[in-house]
Order: sequence, then C-alpha cells, then structure tokens
Amino acid sequence: MPFAIAHKNTHFLSALRLENRSGKIPLWLMRQAGRYLPEYRAIRSRHSFMEMVQTPKIACEITTQPIETPPQPIRRFQFDAAILFSDILVLPDALGLGLTFEEKLGPVFKYPLKTPLDLHRIEQDTLPPCLDYIPETIELIKNKLDVPLIGFAGAPFTVASYMIEGGTSKNLLKTKKWVVNNPQAFKKLMEILSDLTIQYLQMQINAGVNAVQLFDTWAGALSSSQMKELSLPYIEKIIRAIEPSVPVIFFSKACSSFAELIKGVNPQGISFDINADLRRMREDMPHLAIQGNFDPDILLGSQEAIRKEARRIVDSMQGDPGFIFNLGHGIHPETPIAAVQTLIEEVRR
Ligand code: CP3
Repeated sequence: MPFAIAHKNTHFLSALRLENRSGKIPLWLMRQAGRYLPEYRAIRSRHSFMEMVQTPKIACEITTQPIETPPQPIRRFQFDAAILFSDILVLPDALGLGLTFEEKLGPVFKYPLKTPLDLHRIEQDTLPPCLDYIPETIELIKNKLDVPLIGFAGAPFTVASYMIEGGTSKNLLKTKKWVVNNPQAFKKLMEILSDLTIQYLQMQINAGVNAVQLFDTWAGALSSSQMKELSLPYIEKIIRAIEPSVPVIFFSKACSSFAELIKGVNPQGISFDINADLRRMREDMPHLAIQGNFDPDILLGSQEAIRKEARRIVDSMQGDPGFIFNLGHGIHPETPIAAVQTLIEEVRR
C-alpha cells in the first residue's frame, strides 16, 4: 500500500488509489475556501490577500473552517478534503518578484522577468526561508482537520507565464515569444522552477499534506510539440520526485487536449476541465484516478440545471473506485451558497 491513511474520512485518498468501494463519491471543489463565502469576504475585508496567506493563523482558519459560528465550508458542506489556503504565485513572490493582488487586475508582479537576462535574479539552489510560513500553516491545519489536506503548487509553465507576463494575460504573448525566440533560456527557467517546486512540495509533504495538486492552468497556450519539449519533461520530473511520498493530481484547463501526454508522465490522478467526457477518459486510462469536471458556470444557473448536470456526471462514473467529484475549474466568486448546497446534496444522493 503506497500511501498511508490516518483520517476518519478516507474516501478521497482511497479514490486516489482507485480503491474506493464505499459507494460514496469523494467531493471537494477548487477554490472551495474562496470569495463565494461570506466568511472569507469578511476576513478579506480586513487583510490583503498576501497577509492572509502569510499569516498561519488566518490561512489555517480559512482552510479548516472551524465548527463555531459563523460556519465555514468544511463544516458547512462536509467536503471530503481540504486544500491549503495559499496561491501558486507565492513561490515566485519568494524569489523576489514582488507579488500583490489588486482589485480587478488580480495578481501583479512588481519585478517580472523582462528578458532572459533577468534569469540570474531567481537562480538559486534552495528555497528562500521566507516560505517558512507554509509548513507552519500546514501544521496548524493538521491539528484541526479530520479530512485529508491537499497541498499544491503551480506547474512550471503556468508559473513561468505569470513571471514573464507580470500578471494575468489573455494570450501569454510575451511568454510565447520567449518560447519561440529563446527556447534554451526558457528551458533554463523551467529547470529552475521545477527544482524549486520539488523542494516546495517536499516541504509541504514533510509538514503533513496527504496529496498534492499540480496546477498547470494555462498549458493550453502551448502546441503539443512545445508541450512535449518545453513543459512535460519538467512536470514528469516533479511527479517522479513527489509520487513516492504522496499522490499527485495534475490539473489544467487543457487536460482534455493533452490527456494522452499527461497520462504518459504518470500522475496518480488527472483533474479534468469541463470539456472531457469522463467515461471515455476512464476507458483510455484505467489506472489513473479521475477528478472533475462539473462546469462551475452551471452553479450560476437554476437548481434543476445543477441537479441535472450533477446527476449526469455521477451516473457516468457510477461505481468507479477512482472517481473524485470536483469542478472543471475554480468556483466563481458570484456563486450562491445555495447552489453549492444543491450540488453536494445531489452528488451525495
Ligand atoms: O482552491 C482553494 O481554495 C485553495 C487556494 C488557491 C487559491 N489559488 C486562492 C486564491 C489555489 C489552489 C489557487 C491556485 C491558483 N492561483 C491558480 C491555479 C488554479 C486556477 O484557478 O486556475 C492560478 C492560475 C492562480 C493565480 C491567481 N490567484 C489568480 C489569477 C488570481 C486572481 C483571479 C482569481 O481567479 O481570483 C488569484 C487570487 C486568488 N487565489 C484568490 C484566492 C481565494 C482571490 C484573492 C482575493 O481574495 O482577492
């Protein structure tokens, strides 16, 4: 048995091992501790996002959802796993890029990588000690939680894209320019990031996370040959380093397009975007856990629409020992609490 379980709620971890025969589908939602919750918004109104992330007590409170009033999501909804409250961009922030989250703009780096000559600024063999708040937060959370805790990091390509663009971008053109004009420098950047990401995830594992999710949200900006040459080898390196200790779930908005490639680098599970037909994916990958892929836009629709789509996904994966119910991407901040309640009720039925 590769991964030990020490929780009352074992559905999530046993589904990751394709051994969930309990009849209960494990369920958690990407961004489950975010802005759709009034409790989150109340804390957020008093702190910057980075303050929240970097203060273990606050990050723990947001992750663990204490039982006392006001109730927060783990208790509110009884999810089968919690995910560390943090962000994929805290690693580049720690490398000195100066991260802030600005109203309407989202993440902004004060010191982005403007040219390959900037690489020397971030080149280092070990993690900066300023990330010590991460294991501290995880230890606090582990003391409070009776469901497994998911740690995470961004995959090197998606993190690199933010470091180069300086923030959110529609088409990642600056990044693509590096890829096309300076593939060697881009590989160097990916190498630096993958080595640090391995250390970053190992730090989370040592502190107690039970699984990790690798977020490669924007991989779809790459052609499949670019993916194969410039991104996949680094994802593979991370997975190989991490999987002996905990399972890795790979997420991208492009998992449907790159399913074969991703399967080839052996994550324990794949978290699918809304485009995937999960039952077909199961036929193509009998040995991987499959997570997904309810369209979060539907949570803005009617109760009937939510129930119908939840039913469809549950029916299509009925009895599957390796299925984890989740969204195809993060929950929208505008999502009504009642919609989440309806979704969960329908999945649990
Ligand atoms: O899922 C969770 O609840 C755990 C915490 C988590 C956050 N971000 C908190 C957050 C996780 C796993 C992430 C991952 C993340 N961050 C990704 C990959 C997954 C995805 O959503 O595609 C990416 C691309 C980021 C970068 C990022 N962080 C962006 C683009 C933004 C702003 C836009 C947006 O989607 O909200 C953030 C901010 C952020 N990260 C918030 C939260 C709760 C909102 C911050 C606020 O309160 O202002």
